[in-house]
Amino acid sequence: MNNFEENSKKHQHGHCHGKHENHNHEGKKCECGSHSNEHQQVQSHEEGKQQGHCHGKEENKHNNMQKPDIAGMPFKYDKEEEVIEEKVLGFTKLKEDLPLLMQEKKPFTISTFAQMYGVSDLEVCYAMPENMRTITDGKNFERIWKELATWEKATVIIQYKGSAFEISTKIAEGVFGHGFYNIMGGGSAFEGHIKADNIHTIVFSTMPFMTLESLSVLFFDKTGGLIFSVYAGRENRQIIENIKTSFYKMKGEYSYEPVSRKSLVIYSSLTGNTKKVAEAVQSVIPNCDIFPIDNLPENIDEYYFISVGYWVDRGLPDAKSKKLIRSLKNMNVALFGTLGAYPDSPHAKGCIRDSENMLKLSGKNNNVLGSFLCLGKIDPKLMDYMGKFMGETHPLTPERKARLLEAQTHPDNNDLDNVKSVFKSFVERLGL
Ligand SMILES: Cc1cc2nc3c(=O)[nH]c(=O)nc-3n(C[C@H](O)[C@H](O)[C@H](O)COP(=O)(O)O)c2cc1C
Repeated sequence: MNNFEENSKKHQHGHCHGKHENHNHEGKKCECGSHSNEHQQVQSHEEGKQQGHCHGKEENKHNNMQKPDIAGMPFKYDKEEEVIEEKVLGFTKLKEDLPLLMQEKKPFTISTFAQMYGVSDLEVCYAMPENMRTITDGKNFERIWKELATWEKATVIIQYKGSAFEISTKIAEGVFGHGFYNIMGGGSAFEGHIKADNIHTIVFSTMPFMTLESLSVLFFDKTGGLIFSVYAGRENRQIIENIKTSFYKMKGEYSYEPVSRKSLVIYSSLTGNTKKVAEAVQSVIPNCDIFPIDNLPENIDEYYFISVGYWVDRGLPDAKSKKLIRSLKNMNVALFGTLGAYPDSPHAKGCIRDSENMLKLSGKNNNVLGSFLCLGKIDPKLMDYMGKFMGETHPLTPERKARLLEAQTHPDNNDLDNVKSVFKSFVERLGL
């Protein structure tokens, strides 16, 4: 028995993992059905010879065994790992729950919802009923700030590592200099240096707080993290009338200009499977370029959303994709790939977990939307190898044969429909 065979017929569809979803920790080995010591690996797992846990966010590199493969590349096999599961509710559920949650008399903030549902702060705004928010480009920062400086009173809120700091004051206008928008003096208790270039999106929100009417202007970075917010000032708990008028005027005037947000699909594909999936991904993302990984555009940082497509090699994205994934910072990212194992097998889930973790390392500040994997036909060279050398250690059982045959027709139209619907949901979350 092996992992693949345990995952019998039910695993026929492409598999998507949303943000942080279901991180099974499994060892790395090739599951394409073609490699002769997989059997021994799985046996040792079944005998309970697990060694240690996965602690870090990086892929596990311990205990590798090297074995030359037919193309001269070593296949690498890592030890089995214990499973850690972490489930979050996700964007669709948030959209469903938000109207009721907002009416609860609890100190819920945008960041509370973001954490509860495993989405970015900005995605919480996209999940709000449309009439409760206007989303606009960060390029409008200065104009909006000048209007805020006409308010006689506002409360600036900065949330940091679980704490919230509030400054109630009149907002003062600032001046640009040294790469910042500098707010100094002007009779305001709120002074500081705003990195206006980092303000990518601004939202006018009418989400109530503790059931109280609440009007706020929220400032976000590129990956949807809330930098700070400005709330309309109150007197006797009521929002001051002319501030309300100014807020609603802005909320009505500004709108979102999606043209400024370009997306990019990069794919790595040896035999065409991943390319097919990449083209399907591109077809559902507005304003989206597509490039093969050997022809990367230079200005990757200028894109708003990047989707990287890989083929699975020894349980991880192929080397070129791995290098690209590891290089990404401050980006909205989604991953997709094709492989010989079933897409919801522990082998595939381990690949999703490890590749997403490469993006989530501290300091990278990526917003990882999720991953999609589906079956892809196996290279005939590997099939030949399997036929000739599998022998007694790796018999071609009826189940194994069935999976290999099944993979030969993938990715099929069903896989392409599935990947399209997953990426459409990412497009919705990012408001593209
Ligand atoms: C050298 C090599 C290693 C592979 N390793 C794995 C693996 O570890 N797990 C797996 O499920 N599939 C594995 N496969 C199968 C491929 O990931 C799969 O066929 C994929 O769809 C190929 O995509 P492409 O056509 O875009 O190149 C391997 C294929 C090759 C050629």
